[in-house]
Amino acid sequence: MTLREIPLQHVRPAAHAGNLDALLDQRRSTRDFSPQSLKLSHVADLAWAAQGSTTAGTRTCPSAHARYPLTLTVVAGNVADLPTGTYAYDGERHVLAPVASGDHRDAVARTTLADHDWLSRAPALLMLSGDLASANASFAEQPPHGRRGERYVWLEAGHASQNVYLRAAEAGLGAVLVAGFDDDRLIALNPTIVPSGQHPLALLGIGHRADRVPA
Ligand SMILES: Cc1cc2nc3c(=O)[nH]c(=O)nc-3n(C[C@H](O)[C@H](O)[C@H](O)COP(=O)(O)O)c2cc1C
Repeated sequence: MTLREIPLQHVRPAAHAGNLDALLDQRRSTRDFSPQSLKLSHVADLAWAAQGSTTAGTRTCPSAHARYPLTLTVVAGNVADLPTGTYAYDGERHVLAPVASGDHRDAVARTTLADHDWLSRAPALLMLSGDLASANASFAEQPPHGRRGERYVWLEAGHASQNVYLRAAEAGLGAVLVAGFDDDRLIALNPTIVPSGQHPLALLGIGHRADRVPA
């Protein structure tokens, strides 16, 4: 099946939205997902939280020298209104651009060190990746010379991941950060899931919590 570009509904942050203390209190790692489909709007909201553009023209998480080096890839398997496939999230345009058709959740989950069984049941996976060599070159003048930039990229992946956790908590959804995976096996997947020249930084499983299934 040939995938097409998917325009996402625009997020309109409300001044009253959320109560940060409550969301921080409710944030949990979820590994027990219900089989219920996610909505496309859920994926849109979590993608925006991770790497969306803000009204100030920045992104939703901070970035050293405002380089914004992260790419968010959506591996969708059980999302209503979204053909099964892998997509690159374009935060500037708030669209999902096709990468590969087919359900790649199982193949991606198999690259984890211990989390295949339950992670492959998440309706969708979010993957954060970035170009470490380019970041190292950009910050080569900062000690430790040639390695500072990649630290910033890893830190930024942590910011984006927490954004997903908090947005999921607000939506009553479950999310979990899985950073224990075999980088080389993830990069080597066929079809390619990790963007060319980039390094995988984090996987997040997202879905409905089995202990809180909506009516
Ligand atoms: C850097 C990092 C890596 C993690 N990697 C994994 C992982 O590979 N597999 C997993 O199931 N959970 C992973 N987690 C989630 C933690 O296990 C989870 O945060 C911890 O159990 C505390 O639970 P809580 O998030 O509900 O507070 C990771 C969390 C962090 C911050």
